[in-house]
Amino acid sequence: MSHVKVYSPATVANLVCGFDVLGMALNEPFDIMTIRLIDEPTVVIHNEDDFDLPTDPSRNVAGVALLAMIEKLDNKMGFDICIEKRIKPGSGIGSSAASAAGAVVAANQLLEIRFSAIELVQMAMNGEKLASGVKHADNIAPCIYGGLTLIRSIHPLDIVELNPLPLYVTIVHPQIEVKTSDARQILKKQILLKDAIRQWGNIAGLVAGLMKSDYDLIGRSLEDVIIEPIRSILIPAFDEVKSKCREAGALGGGISGSGPSIFMLSRDAETAGEVELVMKEVYNRVGIDFNTYVTTVNKVGVKIVKEK
Ligand code: HSE
Repeated sequence: MSHVKVYSPATVANLVCGFDVLGMALNEPFDIMTIRLIDEPTVVIHNEDDFDLPTDPSRNVAGVALLAMIEKLDNKMGFDICIEKRIKPGSGIGSSAASAAGAVVAANQLLEIRFSAIELVQMAMNGEKLASGVKHADNIAPCIYGGLTLIRSIHPLDIVELNPLPLYVTIVHPQIEVKTSDARQILKKQILLKDAIRQWGNIAGLVAGLMKSDYDLIGRSLEDVIIEPIRSILIPAFDEVKSKCREAGALGGGISGSGPSIFMLSRDAETAGEVELVMKEVYNRVGIDFNTYVTTVNKVGVKIVKEK
């Protein structure tokens, strides 16, 4: 095989109540990557977008993920990768995870599936460490597995695939940048027991709602009493967007990953479209540039679109 091309999807981490433990892959937007083998144990990066990301592999999230793979290969080979990012860095919809996860899935395909999905998650988490200072897997796991995933544990890595019922996702990305490392820095290191109890009730309720196809339970469980009150101050008009989207029929939603994007879940396409109109109305009035997406849950994760 001489080259492999993949689409690597955006993801929504946390799913409101599940900080660092829940995530979901989206059908839109996605990055496009093409990878080839080379005879040297190194990574050559070509950026095919305007984001001016580093091409030094040790400073690039896809680069460090591939370097972790090269370390595990006994023969002296490396990778040449072209990356067209369509997921804006710092948007809160898993841009760094898409780069790191897409790179290792594509490379693994070139190597005729030498590594398991869990090993690929481990390698791709090096990209998250570079981007945010922490090896969290709540974007990487859904990006590689597709659907919704629960990261029950990081050490050892234990990923549970949650088979989602049909869900429509509306996203608004106000055009301000929030660095994940900054959005983690402002969080409290300790929380009250009463808040922890409420939060784990919500996480269990959300997972149960997904398993039982109970939309009302999902909606009631989309509540975050720990992270959202702190991070939402970084996002203009957050409370207004959230309450108006619920009034428009959304099941619920909140900050996507570490923000600034906001996501809302709906049970049908029509409601998801109405939710998008509400988001547009709020940010037009506030006078902040934004992008919106109306999409669905991506069930396959990184998709191989061409191999030759
Ligand atoms: N769980 C991570 C956070 C996701 O909220 O910091 C970052 O995309």
